[in-house]
Amino acid sequence: MQLSGQQYQIQGLNVLDICQQFGTPLYVYDADVIIRQINNLKSAFNTVPLRIKFACKALTNISVLKLMQTQGIGIDAVSVAEARQALLAGFKPKDITFTSNGVDFSEIQEAVELGVAINVDNLPTLELFGKTFGNTVPCCIRLKPNIRAGGNAKIQVGHEHSKFGIPLAQLPDVHTLVKKYNIVINGLHIHTGSDILDPEAFIQGANVLFTVAKEFPDLAFIDFGGGFKVGYKKGDKTTNMPDLGEKLSAAFKDFCKDYGRELEMWFEPGKYLVSECGVLFVKANQVKQTPAITFVQVNSGLNHLIRPMMYDAYHEIVNVSNPEGELKTYDVVGYICETDTLGSDRQLNEVRADDVLALLNAGAYGFTMSSQYNARFRPAEVLVYKGEARLIRERETMEDILRNQILLDF
Ligand code: LLP
Repeated sequence: MQLSGQQYQIQGLNVLDICQQFGTPLYVYDADVIIRQINNLKSAFNTVPLRIKFACKALTNISVLKLMQTQGIGIDAVSVAEARQALLAGFKPKDITFTSNGVDFSEIQEAVELGVAINVDNLPTLELFGKTFGNTVPCCIRLKPNIRAGGNAKIQVGHEHSKFGIPLAQLPDVHTLVKKYNIVINGLHIHTGSDILDPEAFIQGANVLFTVAKEFPDLAFIDFGGGFKVGYKKGDKTTNMPDLGEKLSAAFKDFCKDYGRELEMWFEPGKYLVSECGVLFVKANQVKQTPAITFVQVNSGLNHLIRPMMYDAYHEIVNVSNPEGELKTYDVVGYICETDTLGSDRQLNEVRADDVLALLNAGAYGFTMSSQYNARFRPAEVLVYKGEARLIRERETMEDILRNQILLDF
């Protein structure tokens, strides 16, 4: 979203016109930003055989997935339903990886039936996988690299006490199962966390992967996970992509020489590809002055964007209706019957009732983590593609609240 004269625009469209047409609260995604981010990643790693798998938990709308598909990338799915959405959007099964954790084995069987690639994150599942498929279906294994990295304790997942991945100390058990059932391990995977700024965390992860990889002769790829840091606040540092690309590619090429053949380098970013493309537009229901604080109460809340309350995440807020207004200090809060602060102590151009506010960088883990809490409808979603704003999900209605409920006949 850019300010052009006195108008905030997305691909040249006045965002107030978009909100007028589709109503608020509204998630709007800019396809150009998604394409730009994909290209940035591709060019940072253009000296190695790179495969990008979009971690679609960040944003699963099937039109967005279709856009990803046209850009030649794959999908990382964490449930069979996510994989099925990717198939619907046009992905081939071989371009989808099912990175499960803690699922019932039947879900993995279902994914294998769909032809989706499998990533296994625990020994009991590996054993069942071997028993069921022997050497007929290859799988990747997710390792726990023992690295603490990521923006917030809740999104650090590579450390010793994390539930994810097979601990390095259990590698001997992996080998026992591989031998016993003739399992073909075609990839190694780690995902250390989200919001990782320091390239060193990826280099450390790579060192773990390269050491372990020498024990597996049938590898086709190494998957370094996702977790690149994007900027949420003005002045935030972000993962230095060219720098990371150079360092990691060089280390990878050295490793492949050692390994004796070229492997593919995989990443599965979520935020990096879709955080910045998305804006959540909300309307100020009223401005409530109290002696201590001036609140802007908007027609949204933690039901639509849970990140501020769940991770203390910061989302920039802009009053798009009054770009020239005097700067004043506000707490922007939702209409949910809980404390649902979207931003506190924010300097905004003067807010009046009915003004439209934009919560920026809301493309990742925004809509996908939304709920119907307080019996509120989930917002509509719009994709701006080639200069045109297209509805890609209808706003929910009372029917959606009642769907699947059963009124008993007492
Ligand atoms: N791969 C795996 C196995 C993951 O678990 C995740 C995210 C990703 C890739 C993508 O990570 P990203 O590039 O988006 O950082 N809801 C939280 C983030 C949780 C991430 C969960 N796993 C948030 O809104 O900050």
